[in-house]
Amino acid sequence: MNKMVEIKDFSIRLGNFELKNINLDIFDNEIFAVLGKTGSGKTVLLESVAGFYRRFSGNVNIQGKSVVDVPLEKRKIGFVYQDFGLFPHMTVSDNIGYGLKIQKLDKQKREKKVAEMAEILSIGHVLNQYPGTLSGGERQRTALARALVLDPKMLLMDEPFSALDPATKQSMYKQIETIHQIFGCTILFVTHDFNEAQIMADRIGIMVNGELRGIRKSVNLFESCQDEEINNFLWGNSRGVKNAV
Ligand SMILES: Nc1ncnc2c1ncn2[C@@H]1O[C@H](COP(=O)(O)OP(=O)(O)O)[C@@H](O)[C@H]1O
Ligand SMILES: [Mg+2]
Repeated sequence: MNKMVEIKDFSIRLGNFELKNINLDIFDNEIFAVLGKTGSGKTVLLESVAGFYRRFSGNVNIQGKSVVDVPLEKRKIGFVYQDFGLFPHMTVSDNIGYGLKIQKLDKQKREKKVAEMAEILSIGHVLNQYPGTLSGGERQRTALARALVLDPKMLLMDEPFSALDPATKQSMYKQIETIHQIFGCTILFVTHDFNEAQIMADRIGIMVNGELRGIRKSVNLFESCQDEEINNFLWGNSRGVKNAV
């Protein structure tokens, strides 16, 4: 299997927080979830993979190249932010087409691509609306469309479903599966939701205090191991009762 991402001995300090000695390979077309409590460093890890930081030790390679050595527009990484990060003063259509405009694609081609993407994500009917008028699910779909229209080889998503109600979550899980099939992209997402990680991911890594430990297949998520902190995270202090999320 080819590696999409190779994280080797990666450490980064931000204020009092440190992401410590991360080692992780993510394979082409894999869906990988990073699971951890709030404050464990999930967002910092995702941003590090996207190449947002400069001062670190170790390496993050994407398809064999150090991510920070590749110019932003050539990285082919789609990023979906926790709060979706839509531009409030732009219509859905302009939000989705924003990256294409930056790439100087002409208006006609842009509109065609935006319409195609909106069709796939079932948001064709809201293209002229502003983000403030959308439901949570429509916002999420718009954020995904904006990332996917640039044809990324990798999609990074930060707690993508945490703001959605249970029914919308379920339909978004299916949507992501479809997207994964259509686009064949590798997906790395972070979540604090055990169930979500298991439903969506091939493998899961558990983040504890800035360390990525307990990497396992998602079907084996609740297997106990030698690492008591991981066991406590998964099972709580009394065995047999899962932590509430
Ligand atoms: N730029 C920064 N400067 C200083 N501290 C930071 C910065 N970014 C994140 N942190 C700290 O790093 C820790 C981990 O943050 P984060 O990755 O956002 O956690 P998670 O996403 O798992 O909830 C937090 O304590 C946060 O306050
Ligand atoms: Mg976070």
